[in-house]
Amino acid sequence: MIGASSRRATGVFALSDIHADLQQNMAWLEALSPGDYTEAALILAGDVSDSLATLREALACLRSKFAQVFFVPGNHELWVRRKECPDSIAKFWRIVQLCDALGIHTRPAKVGEGRGNPGVWIVPLFTWYVQPEEGQGSLFVVKPGEDPTLQMWSDKYFTVWPPLPTSMRVADYFLRLNEPHVANRYDAPVISFSHFLPRRELIFSTNEERQTAGVLQHDPHPRFNFSRVAGCTGIDTQIRRLGSVVHVYGHQHRNRNRLIDGVRYVSHCLGYPHERAKGLMRGLADGPALIWESPVTF
Ligand SMILES: [Fe+2]
Ligand SMILES: [Fe+2]
Repeated sequence: MIGASSRRATGVFALSDIHADLQQNMAWLEALSPGDYTEAALILAGDVSDSLATLREALACLRSKFAQVFFVPGNHELWVRRKECPDSIAKFWRIVQLCDALGIHTRPAKVGEGRGNPGVWIVPLFTWYVQPEEGQGSLFVVKPGEDPTLQMWSDKYFTVWPPLPTSMRVADYFLRLNEPHVANRYDAPVISFSHFLPRRELIFSTNEERQTAGVLQHDPHPRFNFSRVAGCTGIDTQIRRLGSVVHVYGHQHRNRNRLIDGVRYVSHCLGYPHERAKGLMRGLADGPALIWESPVTF
């Protein structure tokens, strides 16, 4: 699907963590076929850039190639190290406005309806992670030797959170924004998506995945415990209330496709060039992952 050869597709594609600040990644986006996806939708599950200018450029590029684009910010979008916004919540709303201006969906919309086909609803879920010290809902798993101060985790330095109402955690702020959409009744199947992980088991590779991929045999960061910042269980609660048939997520840079209790969880990250060089990002040769085929053009 990359390049000039035509493999025109109708349906919904998934992609995340394109980290377009990196020249190789922006080039990957620009090399996506200008014609293959003009009748398809793209779910882009966060982590494009912390620069608003780069975010705009990458989103506009994808908007020019796909009939519909859906987006939620990841943690990188909410960094404020460039002083473009006073805090991470203000930046979040600035990004929602940017998406509105570009014609990119950050709210539920139905695609693929017509000619007797019911179509499919795509429901963005705004999310953040819950750390174990914050109470219930963390995906935390104990890791011997970890550094709980997260000294090597950039969010620690680059996010700024304004005062939130008493007892409201950052994750709660975002999950509450989803409530009206989660409470809705939908007249077609639902595909939801978030940047962060909704379930603890998705953090870990299965034996089969370890055997079929060139997955690292050693821990590159023995003191860093990803589960501390992976996501939260509140996301899966919303997925189950929605009755999602597929949920797309990103953040970990580990590509998955697993059916768990009736929901298919798909992560299809572009990731960093050095991760691709190690074979960590499976399935990228075909471009974004097709997760929902449709007989109807979008
Ligand atoms: Fe990422
Ligand atoms: Fe992320």
